[in-house]
Amino acid sequence: MNDKETLVKKTIFSGVQPSGMLTVGNYLGSIKNWKEFEETYNCLYCVVDLHAITVRQDPATLRRRTYETLALYIASGLDPEKNTLFVQSHVPAHAELSWVLNCYAMHGELSRMTQFKDKSKKYASNINAGLFTYPVLMAADILLYQTDLVPVGIDQMQHIELTRDIANRFNQVYGDTFRMPEGFIPKAGAKIMSLAEPEKKMSKSDTNGNASVYILDSRDDIIRKFKRAVTDSDTVVRRAEGKDGINNLMTIYTAFTGKSDADIEAEFAGLGYGHFKLAVGEVVADALAPVHAEFDRLMADKAYLEGVMKDGAAKAAYLARKTLSKVYRKVGFTQPK
Ligand code: TYM
Repeated sequence: MNDKETLVKKTIFSGVQPSGMLTVGNYLGSIKNWKEFEETYNCLYCVVDLHAITVRQDPATLRRRTYETLALYIASGLDPEKNTLFVQSHVPAHAELSWVLNCYAMHGELSRMTQFKDKSKKYASNINAGLFTYPVLMAADILLYQTDLVPVGIDQMQHIELTRDIANRFNQVYGDTFRMPEGFIPKAGAKIMSLAEPEKKMSKSDTNGNASVYILDSRDDIIRKFKRAVTDSDTVVRRAEGKDGINNLMTIYTAFTGKSDADIEAEFAGLGYGHFKLAVGEVVADALAPVHAEFDRLMADKAYLEGVMKDGAAKAAYLARKTLSKVYRKVGFTQPK
C-alpha cells in the first residue's frame, strides 16, 4: 500500500484477540467477510494482543495463539500481499494514541459499555483498569489508520459508536483530525449463538466445550457438536420467535451456503431436526476443511509467518506514525529536534 493508494482507496481496519481458540462465531462475524474487501480497500487486519492481556493469559499460550490467529487470517483467504496483516504490540503507536485518547474518553461512557459490565462479572477477581479502558485502545486501533469501515460482529458495535464519540470530541477541540469510521455487519452471521445455550453469544472463552464450535475443530467434533446442539420440542425446521437454537442453526447454514430461510425450510420439510443438524455440521466441516489444511501448512513455516508480521508491522507503523504525529502536534507536545 503506498501513499497514492491510501488517498484513492477507502480504509478498512479490524482485529481479533488471540485470547482463545477462534470460533465459528469469530469466523462468520469477521474473518470470513474480510477477503471481499481486499481489491477495493486498503485493508489492515490486526492480531490484537494488547487487548488480550486485559484477561490473564498464559504467556506461552498467548505467543502460540498470536501465530495461530495470524495463520488463520491467511488460511481464511487473506493475501498478505494485498492486506496489511500485523500484530498490535509490534506497532507502538496503538498504545501511544490510546493514552492520548484516554484523556478524551469519559469515565461515565466507559462504565456503560456492555462488554465491560459482562467481563467484570465473569472475571470479578481481576477488574483491572485495562479492562475498563479496553474500548479506548480499540478506538486508537481504528482512528490511527483514518479508517472508513470496521467489519465486526454486532457485539463490537457499541465500541465503534464510542470510537465515533471520542473522534468527534477530539475533532471539535482540535479541528479535523480523525476520519469518522462506520461499523460493517455481515447479513448472516453478525451474532452466532452458543450451541448449548442458544440465547447466549458463542464465545471463545466459554468453558463448555460443546457450546462453541472452533474453527480448528476436527470434522468429527464439528459434526458431533452440531448433532448435540440444543433446539426445542417442535420438529419443523423454520425460523420463529422462541426457537433460538433452530434460528441459530439456520443462520449458520445461510452464512455458509447463501441459502435463504425459505430455501432451508423447503429443503428440510418433513425431515426433522436430526437431519438438519447433521446437514449444518457437514456444511461447516466441508467449508472449514481447506482452512485447516492451509493452517497446518502455515504453522509449519514460522519463518514465513514472522516475515508477514514484520512486513505488516512496518507498513502499519508508517501509516500510524502520520496520524500520531498530527495528534501530538495538535495537543501541544514538543518534537525532539
Ligand atoms: P473478539 O476477539 O472478541 O472477536 C473478533 C471478531 O469476532 C466477532 N464475534 C462474533 N461474531 C458473530 N457471532 C459471535 N458469536 C461472535 N463472537 C465474536 C466480533 O464481533 C469481532 O468482530 N474488541 C474486539 C477486537 C478489536 C477490534 C479492534 C475489532 C480490537 N480492536 C478494532 C475491530 C476494530 C474483540 O474483542 O473481538
